[in-house]
Amino acid sequence: MIKIDSSEKKVFYITILLVAIFVFSILYARGKYKSDVPECLPYGKAFTVPRVDTIDSHTYRVFAVASMWQFEPAEIYIPAGSEVDFFLSSKDVVHGFNIAGKNVNMMAVYGNINKTTVRFDNPGVYKITCHEFCGTGHQNMQAEVIVNYPRKH
Ligand code: CUA
Repeated sequence: MIKIDSSEKKVFYITILLVAIFVFSILYARGKYKSDVPECLPYGKAFTVPRVDTIDSHTYRVFAVASMWQFEPAEIYIPAGSEVDFFLSSKDVVHGFNIAGKNVNMMAVYGNINKTTVRFDNPGVYKITCHEFCGTGHQNMQAEVIVNYPRKH
């Protein structure tokens, strides 16, 4: 029969307890912040044409294409209270896609489509920035979601 030292047993139980706490906190955060892993969709050429499609007056589809060093479309105009599906892809290297003030942090990867859905209830200008170093123009790589503001041009 195997004899386990009592201090070793203690470490064993503490480890199980810690793992249980980690798993619980991940599940708790998932429920509380409604965070979800972005969906990954099958690749299709139609996703790589930058555009904003209007589904109805408060539902939009944004096909965002990242490349060195810009996002297209660079300006996305929508009214407050809109729900937007973002379909994200890249023309070249890996880029990041972070929307300020929203729980969005995606990667733009060549040959892949990442999707997430965001609600914009409050008027304002939401900056989209690339948070993955992608070359000399990285720091200039941004776009805007413009909610309830008139068009600049
Ligand atoms: Cu694109 Cu950094």
